[in-house]
Amino acid sequence: MNQSICVYPGSFDPVTLGHLDIIRRACRVFQTVRVAVLDNPEKTKTFSVSERIAMLEKVCASLPNVQIDSFSGLLVDYIRKTGAGIILRGLRSAGDFETEFQMAQMNSQLSDSVESLFMMTSPDHAYISSSIVKQIASFGGDISAFIPASILAEVNKRLDHK
Ligand code: PNS
Repeated sequence: MNQSICVYPGSFDPVTLGHLDIIRRACRVFQTVRVAVLDNPEKTKTFSVSERIAMLEKVCASLPNVQIDSFSGLLVDYIRKTGAGIILRGLRSAGDFETEFQMAQMNSQLSDSVESLFMMTSPDHAYISSSIVKQIASFGGDISAFIPASILAEVNKRLDHK
């Protein structure tokens, strides 16, 4: 297991400035940050996996140590395949803590060679979530403070006044 590689997993439907903040800061800590989009056919998402990957590639284009990928099935199985040693997750609130605590415990039960590490979101981004941003956009609200500028038009186009 390589402790210099972290996997930052998530739905990223779509990537927000909160996610990007975590990715940027993780780049200063880890040699490689592998952003992994969950491909879950059971859950309907606003953007397809390939669209989510393309958006992540666009917003991470200037970050040389970021790799974008997708995975299906168990996260620990994916981690095993990549050889990464760390699962990285962002924490916004006490509510996040409850869920993340459970996921981290479960993942450590499933694999004793992977560690979960958490990074606090910066206060500017603590209230951002992809689902709230999508709701705002669907009612015609301004989401430019929450979504990276390079993908803003694409996100608005999909969600505007739905
Ligand atoms: O961005 P999200 O939706 O909060 O990300 C959740 C994610 C993808 C990290 C989580 O659902 C996950 O790891 N799913 C893979 C299935 C799995 O491994 N489940 C068992 C451990 S909780």
